[in-house]
Amino acid sequence: MIFIEDKHELKEELAEWRHARDHVAIVPTMGNLHPGHVSLVDVAKEHAERVVVTVFVNPTQFGEGEDFETYPRTFDKDTRRLKTVAADVLFAPSVETVYPFGIESATAVTVPGLTENFCGSFRPGHFDGVTTVVARLFALVRPDVAVFGQKDYQQQLVIRRMVEDLNLPVTIITAATIREDDGLAMSSRNVYLSDDEREKAPALYQALADVERQLRDGVGDFDALERQASNELERAGFLPEYVAVRRAADLGPAEEACRELVVLAAANLGQARLIDNVLVKL
Ligand code: PAF
Repeated sequence: MIFIEDKHELKEELAEWRHARDHVAIVPTMGNLHPGHVSLVDVAKEHAERVVVTVFVNPTQFGEGEDFETYPRTFDKDTRRLKTVAADVLFAPSVETVYPFGIESATAVTVPGLTENFCGSFRPGHFDGVTTVVARLFALVRPDVAVFGQKDYQQQLVIRRMVEDLNLPVTIITAATIREDDGLAMSSRNVYLSDDEREKAPALYQALADVERQLRDGVGDFDALERQASNELERAGFLPEYVAVRRAADLGPAEEACRELVVLAAANLGQARLIDNVLVKL
């Protein structure tokens, strides 16, 4: 695996791959890599001969008072981990490389509608930062395929919409969420959990799994299921932001006739804001 910071060096490497007619996959990350990221690299390798993992803690997707400054930066550990997987390049650009005209003057990409609810309403501007950086990473790497995790369900839908709307020549793959043995979705932010909170944290997935079970049993009162899960989270010590049963394709209202639903939630536990979701195909 080669480590590249410079966009010209990246371009030269990519040119060699293109010359060999290799397909290129990108796995965008903000670092602090865990087995969930490794699984994204494995999925990427199934779709392309070459895999670029990007590590960039993107300032534009953090709101005021959020954890940009304290976001875990574990570069040496990340490099060691990536050496054991199928990544060809670890691309870790500087802020100046990604935003050559500065953050304030950056051309931004906004996906209206889909970004306005759920995480979008609790983190205003967050998805604009995500689409803006992902579009820039796509422009730098020009991948054929990009892999994102299902854990960030709304994010992957927003990115899919951006790609479709702008006709970007990249195929988006959504890879399954990787969980700890007790069900907690792996996340770089799990390091914020104290020992006591870590014990409580699997309750998030359990609440979603309870809703899933009831949907499969034919329960159709979505509002009641959302309320029930939210209460369950409060009892477990969380401060829930939202629990929602929605149409999986576009987060539109769930209806009895919907065959593909997603149950998604965000909740705070101590310093950690946890998100998770389950897909329910009926
Ligand atoms: O999911 C993430 O880690 C980030 O939002 C992403 C896609 C790497 C953009 O910074």
